[in-house]
Amino acid sequence: MPVSNFNKLLEQELERLDKGGVSKRHERVVERYEDGRAIIDGKKVLVFNSNDYLGLRFHEKVKAGEHAASDAFGTGPGAVRFIAGTMKVHQELETALAKFHEKEAAMVFSSAFAANMAVLHCLLKGQAKDSLVHKESIIISDQLNHRSIIDGIRVAGFPKEKKKIFNHLDLDELKKVLEESVGQAKRVIVVTDGIFSMLGEAQDIGKIQEIVDQFQDKFEEGVITVVDDSHGVGCYGPSGKGCEEATNGNCDLIVGTLGKGFGVDGGYIVGSKIIIDYLREAAATYIYSNPVAPGTAGAALAAVNLMMSDEGKQILATLNENIAYLKKGLADAGFEMAAPSEHPIQPLLVGDPLKSKALTEELFANGILVTPINYPVVPSGKDEIRVQVSAAHSTADIDEFIEKVTAAAKKIGLL
Ligand SMILES: Cc1ncc(COP(=O)(O)O)c(C=O)c1O
Repeated sequence: MPVSNFNKLLEQELERLDKGGVSKRHERVVERYEDGRAIIDGKKVLVFNSNDYLGLRFHEKVKAGEHAASDAFGTGPGAVRFIAGTMKVHQELETALAKFHEKEAAMVFSSAFAANMAVLHCLLKGQAKDSLVHKESIIISDQLNHRSIIDGIRVAGFPKEKKKIFNHLDLDELKKVLEESVGQAKRVIVVTDGIFSMLGEAQDIGKIQEIVDQFQDKFEEGVITVVDDSHGVGCYGPSGKGCEEATNGNCDLIVGTLGKGFGVDGGYIVGSKIIIDYLREAAATYIYSNPVAPGTAGAALAAVNLMMSDEGKQILATLNENIAYLKKGLADAGFEMAAPSEHPIQPLLVGDPLKSKALTEELFANGILVTPINYPVVPSGKDEIRVQVSAAHSTADIDEFIEKVTAAAKKIGLL
């Protein structure tokens, strides 16, 4: 009886979410892909909401990397690395990631979410009971950081006064918070998204470093900068290294995903050898959770190597041309954007949840897949359509999108 009561409560909760129009479980089913388009409900649709910014998911070299690794190592890792032994392909992937980001070392996790869950906890205080890493630290976080950063801080179980937030992208405020923190801790962790996923805005890592450098000597164990650039790695900056490269920064640690620009799956962290060595001893989501499958590691290795080659540079150049072409097309059609963005995420401002839903549905009826982003993910009145362009889109694809979104916007009274 008690469990049936709980089930009833869950039913009511699901109904509440459905009625509020915010439920997420009614996912569209992609039957397959054909000529770069998704087949949904038997219909071919042009996808403008994927994080596969470089179109690497279907790249022959990436698929070949996956097949070669699963032929050599099997379909799964068998166990966590310190138990079953590390597979060479995971090591090769880590070496390639460190080289790509020009850092000393790298470490692969099952996802970027898993990386944030462990890394922040470990830097704030050791995860083991007898750890020498004490908790005399403070964390300073951008107001709009990703959920995995927020949860990573939460699991550390820190008191409120040690968790500080600066206004979104407001680096003068970051400086003020650092000033106020002097004398309150031995160590400070500054954490931010690189590219912010809802608006495509970029954090200025160079400027953060400039500010942080003024405070290094004011804390006994310094200030450590952690940038989660999951949307930036592979696809943003002159050679795709992300916001650090784009803003001439030099942060201590970059958290990245292999599941967006690199077109595969999994997460990683790059930084100094000493921090990575420590994380292999302490990070719970590394020690108690399997790594990505060897085939996935092989695909990711091929993708990272590709982005360091001339072919990768050409793909990146195509992406940048597509971003510029899309931006111009949307501006010429009279659309307003929710934020300025040079990233494949172009946030088309709608400003009303019902209109953003209507626009999305009208577009789907006309063979275009995009996602509406509404409150509370964005502030009320800033409802948007998150348009995401890829290097795999042709000019004709972008023309088709602009033509259809313009017609749909006129139909619902947005333009
Ligand atoms: C900033 C940021 N961090 C982490 C993640 C999670 O990445 P993964 O899918 O590898 O867990 C995302 C993806 O939504 C993200 O946008």
